[in-house]
Amino acid sequence: MEFRTLVEQRATVRQFLPDPVDPADVCEMVRLAGLAPSPNNSQPWQFIAISRRSTLEQMAAAVRNRLEDLLPRPADEDARRAGRRVERFSTFFAHAPLVIAVALEPYESVIEGALRGSAVTKARVNAMRGYPDIQSVGAAIEHLLLAAEEMGYGGCWLTGPIVARTAIERLLGVKAPARLIALVAIGRPKDEGARRRDRKRVEEILRFVD
Ligand SMILES: Cc1cc2nc3c(=O)[nH]c(=O)nc-3n(C[C@H](O)[C@H](O)[C@H](O)COP(=O)(O)O)c2cc1C
Repeated sequence: MEFRTLVEQRATVRQFLPDPVDPADVCEMVRLAGLAPSPNNSQPWQFIAISRRSTLEQMAAAVRNRLEDLLPRPADEDARRAGRRVERFSTFFAHAPLVIAVALEPYESVIEGALRGSAVTKARVNAMRGYPDIQSVGAAIEHLLLAAEEMGYGGCWLTGPIVARTAIERLLGVKAPARLIALVAIGRPKDEGARRRDRKRVEEILRFVD
């Protein structure tokens, strides 16, 4: 598929047919995700593919528990509705044929080597440079979503479930210093032609500086 068509066609999918995702397709999606750029080609990512329903249910239950702790029990209906919406958008992945959990693996940047012996911490360097680790994983996730689209699947990038990061990491065997940063739900779309959302016009988001 032509690149422009692919990008224009992609839209988030949250409802899936029950058809499984072929493991060969999963490998190809992740291979293409791994072609994303990263600082000094550090490739600070790990992908964990989950299709077992009981594991997905356990992950969603962990999110529900965490949200129950986190969200106050509001008196007004608007806040309760918002809470239900957060829960729905953070747990629907349990019904997807496949979820790819994405973990960030810390890497040693070149500047850290140059700063050895100074008081500047790794976390501070990362923050000063605009979180290149997270930027890289974001690029890889977008590759993953576009690859899925090109192969006839649909998907949704989720960070809502990461409120239950520790519990999900335990379920998936993600060990520090790696850190779970997103889930991607993938499957054949239930409805053809997922709803594309409006975007800001280029004039609103682009500014040329002479
Ligand atoms: C970093 C990130 C986190 C997101 N987290 C969630 C989420 O937790 N739950 C969800 O349903 N959608 C989530 N989304 C999907 C967005 O809602 C969706 O991309 C946005 O509404 C634009 O729609 P489109 O993808 O169809 O263009 C997330 C997207 C991004 C990029």
